[in-house]
Amino acid sequence: MILQTIHATQPTLTLAMQKADWLGLTYLLAAVLFYLGLKMLSKVSTARRGNMVSALGMLVAIAATFFQISGGQWVSLVWIGIAMLIGTGAGAVLALRVPMTGMPEMVALLNGCGGIASLLVACGDYLNKFNAESQINGVVASVDILQYAGWDVLLATGLATLIGGLTFTGSLVAYAKLAGSKFIPDAPVQFAGQKVLIAVLLIGSLALAGVLIAQPHAWYVLVIVSLLALILGILLVIGIGGADMPVVIALLNSYSGIAASMAGFVLNNSALIITGALVGASGLILTNIMCKAMNRSLMNVLFGGVGGAVAGGGKGPEGEARAFSIEDASIILDAARSVIIVPGYGMAVAQAQHAVKEFAQQLESRSIEVKYAIHPVAGRMPGHMNVLLAEADVPYEQLLDLEQVNPQFEQADVALVIGANDVTNPAARHDTASPIYGMPILDVDKARTVFVIKRSMNPGFAGIQNELYFKENTGMIFGDAKKVVSDLSTELAAN
Ligand code: TAP
Repeated sequence: MILQTIHATQPTLTLAMQKADWLGLTYLLAAVLFYLGLKMLSKVSTARRGNMVSALGMLVAIAATFFQISGGQWVSLVWIGIAMLIGTGAGAVLALRVPMTGMPEMVALLNGCGGIASLLVACGDYLNKFNAESQINGVVASVDILQYAGWDVLLATGLATLIGGLTFTGSLVAYAKLAGSKFIPDAPVQFAGQKVLIAVLLIGSLALAGVLIAQPHAWYVLVIVSLLALILGILLVIGIGGADMPVVIALLNSYSGIAASMAGFVLNNSALIITGALVGASGLILTNIMCKAMNRSLMNVLFGGVGGAVAGGGKGPEGEARAFSIEDASIILDAARSVIIVPGYGMAVAQAQHAVKEFAQQLESRSIEVKYAIHPVAGRMPGHMNVLLAEADVPYEQLLDLEQVNPQFEQADVALVIGANDVTNPAARHDTASPIYGMPILDVDKARTVFVIKRSMNPGFAGIQNELYFKENTGMIFGDAKKVVSDLSTELAAN
């Protein structure tokens, strides 16, 4: 009987295997495109192309998946089409409308969507397996696939649910904090026993995933894991705040990738496994880079409760800041031979990048050498300054990172700080009481003259005053970054 069945299904099996080979190859092509895209994204000069290559990889993967499920199943294709239209429409509107400074919030939302998608895929697939139908030789029979489900698939189901769920609520909390919601404070919310509670919930959920392997039919276990995961996400992120949020976003991005990879194991979809693993690994690498740039350990970021309202921390710098007029500043700039421009969050808010590029051209037309100093956490997201300056067509070779540029400040005639604050605060080098102590900074104070363009004496992201503003070689040019830079250009041109 078994042999008869095997013979009867032989042609179908061979066809299915050929289809699987093609599918595997296409997924491999998509994975290679993702890998190449990621590699290109790591260099400013190739980043745009990298984005396109990755998008092409996604198109190939989606087309292959459509090919896999086509075969008469038009109903599901229609549903998928509708879902894709809604998703693509919402994504396009969001991407077009979001300002560059709102990018971290948008990434938080996208991570959350990825997390909940993995949870739903894992739970949906589990439910499907409960009462799957099998059709052999035209005879339809109800089959309990769960009886045969391997421990690995059940484990992946549990993990996709756990990691996907905590990524979802964690990302929503991160979004609310970054968007300044009045319901969730930006400062870390910590309470006694929080870490113990997190540990208990985490160990409990992992143990329940184990129970699911031993008792594949215990569907309620998956419900409990989902609930615990949703609570865990809130507890994990609520205790973090302020300047640490972007690190958390990078970490949640990594989690969403790991959850997707687990969902890939559940669906036996190699493209999803590979893509998820790539996102998981790159998110972890980015998290590590950001921690290093802030001189913090990941554990300290996650559980240190740092980064809220931190106006305290020592007495703060004293003295008087000297204000410079556009005319006076442009006389000094005109006499300079080398100028290092230090962009920060304020340049992004003012959208001053094009004005900065024109100003730099004005300087260069007077044979003044211009370079840009890019701090890894200047602005509000990784690569924020690179993206803005690339948008204004600033030559890539003029952008120097922290290690390259710091030894050059001593030889610079002018360091022109445009809307940057924390990343230039010398207190990070010596003031052990400062919340940013130990964070590598741009040594702008070592330039012969420092000009700082900002609107007031208000502090930056970390909430502390900058001692740079009170140094003898520093002059403040108060005003909106775009207006001040444009005025400086006009004044220089008139000289
Ligand atoms: P900040 O320290 O945040 O300072 C930005 C300064 O820009 C403010 O002092 C503000 O002063 C000024 N500003 C705002 N709008 C302006 C405008 N229209 N024109 C001129 N100036 C304006 O910026 P930063 O030096 O770039 O440092 C980044 C901070 O964000 C660090 O603390 C970092 O740890 C944190 N952070 C970074 C990231 C990443 S990945 N980049 C993510 C999260 C947090 P006024 O109000 O007086 O104008």
